[in-house]
Amino acid sequence: MTKTVLITGGANGIGRAAALEAARRGWSVGVVDKDAARAHEVAAEARRDGARRVRAIGADVTDEQDLLNAFEVVATTMGGLDGVVASAGIEINAPLLNMPLETWQRVLEVNLTGTFLTVRAAAHAMVNIKATGSIVCVSSPSAFVGFAGGSNSAYGASKGGISAFVRAAAIDLARHKIRVNAVVPGATDTSMLYFGLSGVARDAERERLRAASARQIPLGRMAEPSEIACAAVWLLSDDASYVTGSHLVCDGGLTAKSANDF
Ligand SMILES: NC(=O)c1ccc[n+]([C@@H]2O[C@H](COP(=O)([O-])OP(=O)(O)OC[C@H]3O[C@@H](n4cnc5c(N)ncnc54)[C@H](O)[C@@H]3O)[C@@H](O)[C@H]2O)c1
Repeated sequence: MTKTVLITGGANGIGRAAALEAARRGWSVGVVDKDAARAHEVAAEARRDGARRVRAIGADVTDEQDLLNAFEVVATTMGGLDGVVASAGIEINAPLLNMPLETWQRVLEVNLTGTFLTVRAAAHAMVNIKATGSIVCVSSPSAFVGFAGGSNSAYGASKGGISAFVRAAAIDLARHKIRVNAVVPGATDTSMLYFGLSGVARDAERERLRAASARQIPLGRMAEPSEIACAAVWLLSDDASYVTGSHLVCDGGLTAKSANDF
């Protein structure tokens, strides 16, 4: 069945891959991102890949009004609203002893509050048009385990909050026939891993991450964004009709593995 979906953080990485995966199924796709220019480029790609209808909308997920506008545009001009992927997020790392309050607050604001505002706006839009729906949030292994490299307290707290929120939201929205789940991507080869780096420095960091992944991740490599997108789109689909409040872990075995090797 064809669907209309809205994807935050749709201009890059996992969100972009989810937009293109939805497009390949012939779904209608609203690409929402604070980077409106990139969102337009992804919308054009989605059109080429087979999307029924596409819209690019510039919106900041920390801005309630931006989100209400984005959901209004999609629900009223694109044939309703069946699914949402809340992929917008940032990662800023610092050792706890040097973690500035502003950094902590910014990471929580974008990742956790942004997810709350997105899911609440999505649920309002779905309830208003009496649609059943599926909402996919994006958590992280850091919601469940501390990263060995450290410096991840704000990001980990934001993702732990998202995981708890997903379970609570699934219960609240079940009576409206709206499902809420999370994907848990492991290390995924997107610009998030290379924040602030370009050119030779970015290439060197990618090589370092590839070598570390080969040693540390059971499947021996980072994920491609499309591999996470397929899981998210499955959760949006009717094939996942009895799945809510759950986490779909796509981490190459990272969190299944203990560091102990006696
Ligand atoms: N890449 C990984 O290894 C990894 C692992 C686990 C979880 N995640 C999560 O996956 C999600 C997507 O990350 P990605 O790897 O695709 O990163 P990315 O940087 O490639 O894409 C993130 C997108 O979110 C947008 N964005 C950021 N702040 C925003 C805001 N305030 N309002 C609207 N849009 C905003 C950015 O413009 C960008 O297009 C994030 O929630 C991230 O935490 C990523």
